[in-house]
Amino acid sequence: MIAILSDVHANLEALTAVIRDMSGRKITRIFFLGDIIGYGPNPVEVLEFLQKFEFCLMGNHDRAVLTGPPKKFNPVAKEAVEWTRKQIHPSYVRLKWLRPWVYRKRLEWWRFLLQMKPIRKEGDWVFCHDHPIQPGSDKYVHKLEVAQTVLDGLPDIRAFFIGHSHVPMMFTYKERIVPEEGTLYPIDQRLIVNVGSVGQPRDRDARACYVLLDERGIQFIRVPYDIRRTQQKIRQAGLPQLLAQRLEEGK
Ligand SMILES: [Fe+2]
Repeated sequence: MIAILSDVHANLEALTAVIRDMSGRKITRIFFLGDIIGYGPNPVEVLEFLQKFEFCLMGNHDRAVLTGPPKKFNPVAKEAVEWTRKQIHPSYVRLKWLRPWVYRKRLEWWRFLLQMKPIRKEGDWVFCHDHPIQPGSDKYVHKLEVAQTVLDGLPDIRAFFIGHSHVPMMFTYKERIVPEEGTLYPIDQRLIVNVGSVGQPRDRDARACYVLLDERGIQFIRVPYDIRRTQQKIRQAGLPQLLAQRLEEGK
């Protein structure tokens, strides 16, 4: 069984709750679809953990931390990106001759982020953070018309797995489906599956979301976690308060 996670956004409590949930299942592979960091208060711990996954794709917030926030980011996202850069960028280590291990660790995280790719193909499956035809463009596949252009554009692909919107969703060529928690959806037609977000869900359900995939089909899993603890850390870190508030509202 494969577990597919996306958009952890440096939320360690949500990630550990999902890992705990996965430990009771027969999972042999774990894929990550991007946005390891940005928004949340534990970029270092989450980066350390996700390096163990089979692959991690590049999300727009991962890229923003590497390059600096793009103009189109809102002020809250920009502030979170700048804060995250300070936690992991090698050049923010003062007196690096005194603490070479800190500098080496930051170099390791930075190199890990740099090597991430925006898309991956496995047989007739495609995994991508945002838009499978324009990976890395930050474009959303959120409407049926857009989903149809993706299905038309890559006719050899049977199933697409994406993240980015933080809203669990599925598209066939004919319909947009809001998935139910725990329901098994067979892959009996071409599909686009948005796996939702572990660390900042936006479908008005505050619980962490991830997807299980095996020969029988796809299942969306929701996992409660200690939101209060994450909110407390966000406030202590001096990150924007809105980031703490939105977690409990699931938006
Ligand atoms: Fe994201």
